[in-house]
Amino acid sequence: MITKPKGCHDIYGAEAKKWQYVNQLIDALMEKYNYQYIRTPIFESTDLFHRGVGSTSDIVTKETYDFVDRGDRKMTLRPEGTAGVVRSYIENKMYGDATQPVKLYYNGTMYRYERPQAGRDRELTQFGVEVLGGDDPIIDAEVISIPVNIYKMLGLKQIKVNINSLGDMESRKAYREALIKYFEPHIHELCEDCQERLQKNPLRILDCKVDCDNEIIKNAPTTLEYLNQESKERFDKVIEYLGALGIEHEVNPKIVRGLDYYCHTVFEIEAKVEGFGSQNVLGGGGRYDGLTEELGGPKTPGIGFATGLGRVILALEKEEIKLPIKEGIDVFILYVNEDEKLNAMYLAQELRMNGFSVETEYLGRGLKGQFKQADRLKSKYLLILNSEELKDNIVTIKNNKTKEEEKIDLDYLIYYLDEHIEEDEPFHLGHEGEEVHLEEGEDDEED
Ligand code: HAM
Repeated sequence: MITKPKGCHDIYGAEAKKWQYVNQLIDALMEKYNYQYIRTPIFESTDLFHRGVGSTSDIVTKETYDFVDRGDRKMTLRPEGTAGVVRSYIENKMYGDATQPVKLYYNGTMYRYERPQAGRDRELTQFGVEVLGGDDPIIDAEVISIPVNIYKMLGLKQIKVNINSLGDMESRKAYREALIKYFEPHIHELCEDCQERLQKNPLRILDCKVDCDNEIIKNAPTTLEYLNQESKERFDKVIEYLGALGIEHEVNPKIVRGLDYYCHTVFEIEAKVEGFGSQNVLGGGGRYDGLTEELGGPKTPGIGFATGLGRVILALEKEEIKLPIKEGIDVFILYVNEDEKLNAMYLAQELRMNGFSVETEYLGRGLKGQFKQADRLKSKYLLILNSEELKDNIVTIKNNKTKEEEKIDLDYLIYYLDEHIEEDEPFHLGHEGEEVHLEEGEDDEED
């Protein structure tokens, strides 16, 4: 038997419904925030990731799926979304759009050759946003608020933003030098990877998975000590704005992030998930003001985040959160003979085109079997066809809950169903007539 590749998943059945629900929530919320959907290729020139994500990041050095295509071009399955979006922003000259900043979101598969475990896959799905063309800290706060609000809306608890600033180029440079000076005398005490990182990208030593408990790393200087005045003031504003949005956050100088493109704000968002360990980081992101230029575009500030949806759905399962997913269909059409079958087909199409979810019989079951099938499919109404009645343009319709039956004129069918079946609520935010407040732990009784 041929099996699926390691670190990949088949998504179907009840789990697929959860994915659809989360995707719909994302689309609905992004519409409210006025972010435009963007889809870029799943593979790009290998160069894009080396120059974009950075040639010293683990993602590029160890984790990409690279291949040479039949035209001898070096290609890479995208390990993340930011580089492709920025490439597209430049290639399509979105910097010329009248409405700046350009606010984009994506939701698609990424590929990383990692050691698979719960919440760490080789084929992963990321929902992310990128905002290009604005550097006001109000944008940083808005970008961070999106995943926070999504996690809260899904019912996840104790959402916390860990945030740090890497500062501007000048601050980063000063910090980099300080780190090299600090680590140099101890470098032989750290792992081989860290020894290599020292000159290439000393920041990466700080989030080394091997040496994370090493005292030398724990006592290393922090980025915040090396922020110049401008960077510090900017970071203070981001923190102030997060406070204004009621977003719980902690300044955590250990957050440096694994990709090379970051500057200023960097963040990771965690939720408390039973049994999740280090995978409780659900999403992360940061500012990348130099990336557009690095990829050949005009100097353009940018910021974004991404969250792994597989990880989010796993978190919902671990926390036993039940999503309000609609079950069942509107109508099941029952028939016995060929004449009724033709009518069933026609009516199924007619009703579907008028907005009802409809099933009929496909396997030649008898009436008894069809009633059972309708129950299995949780059909609200049954439409029972009978050749004799059809001659008079009549059908029998049965409410499958109350078991009440009526004979109605076919011309009246759609009107009847419209009257009796509550329209499926299109996905909407909040509850009818109620305002939505996302703060946790409110005491409902004390108003
Ligand atoms: P990242 O931290 O590499 O950032 O990934 C973001 C999120 O994707 C992680 O927090 C995690 O939820 C999910 N993720 C990453 N790797 C895996 C994996 N192997 N299996 C399952 N989930 C995974 C980025 O990708 C940046 N592009 C984020 C960004 C956007 N920065 C600025 N704009």
